[in-house]
Amino acid sequence: MSVRHFLAETDLTKAEFKALLVRAEELRTLWEAGEIYSPFHHKTLAMIFEKSSTRTRVSFEAGMTQLGGHAIHLSPRDSQFGRGEPLDDTARVLSRMVDIVMIRTASHDSVERFSEASNVPVINGLTDLLHPCQMLADMQTYLHHRGDIEGKTVAWIGDGNNVCNSYLKIAKLLGFKLRVAHPQGYGPDADILTESGDSVVIAETPEAACDKADLVVTDVWSSMGQEEENDVRQIAFKQYCVTPELMALAAPDALFMHCLPAHRDEEVMAAVIDGPQSVVWDEAGNRLHAQKALMEFLLTQN
Ligand code: CP
Ligand code: NVA
Repeated sequence: MSVRHFLAETDLTKAEFKALLVRAEELRTLWEAGEIYSPFHHKTLAMIFEKSSTRTRVSFEAGMTQLGGHAIHLSPRDSQFGRGEPLDDTARVLSRMVDIVMIRTASHDSVERFSEASNVPVINGLTDLLHPCQMLADMQTYLHHRGDIEGKTVAWIGDGNNVCNSYLKIAKLLGFKLRVAHPQGYGPDADILTESGDSVVIAETPEAACDKADLVVTDVWSSMGQEEENDVRQIAFKQYCVTPELMALAAPDALFMHCLPAHRDEEVMAAVIDGPQSVVWDEAGNRLHAQKALMEFLLTQN
């Protein structure tokens, strides 16, 4: 059987994705009860980070430790791929030494190339195109607080970035309606939008997107690698801040999510992210449990 990877949400079937969310909730319950569950003694996770990270790094490293294994952090500064060794060569070498790899890099093509050369499962820890691990945590968080997301309405406010593209993918996979409100010229990936069919609509305004929505989501106006566009983006996105007034248009029990890191009073007002509808800390914490479920799945599938 060929090796299973997790580069995009659709690398899992709907049933597999939903089963992982349930398993993540079980693992969270075990962890909160202080129970040790460590089936992966002597297993090693290699983590390649070509971009910064707090949540992804700590959740994968702590997660692998809790599962009984070990994680190795590799950055371009002190690894040979930072000096030009091809990523596919790195993949071939790591496949002979470790059991699973997580990679965060700019180009999605690089992750695909890496996975083609890898004999062990590869997990996408964020590319410029997608952030599928974030979707596991977000969907686990929705399940925990509100139940099944199928048939619900989600509003995405702001940049059509990697996390937004992942929301497009997951809307189609899990069967919810996604309304995206973005400034002109900052929409989601055109191919993913086409593939999404009628599960995604582009809303005229943030207000139209939020109307009776069950979940409101946003992200930074400038993603990693876009720092030089920041001044232009600050102007373009000015009307795309999630305010208490915007949240008031959503369903009364609507939740607010943000993958973090956040910029208070830019893409979201402090009153929202620190307010009663925000579940951002559970969302961040669930990165740990969702990715433990994912690693367990991939390590026992292949
Ligand atoms: N949400 C997220 O991926 O955070 P980090 O960049 O800190 O890993
Ligand atoms: N869109 C953000 C997400 C960070 C987790 C970025 O790519 O920087």
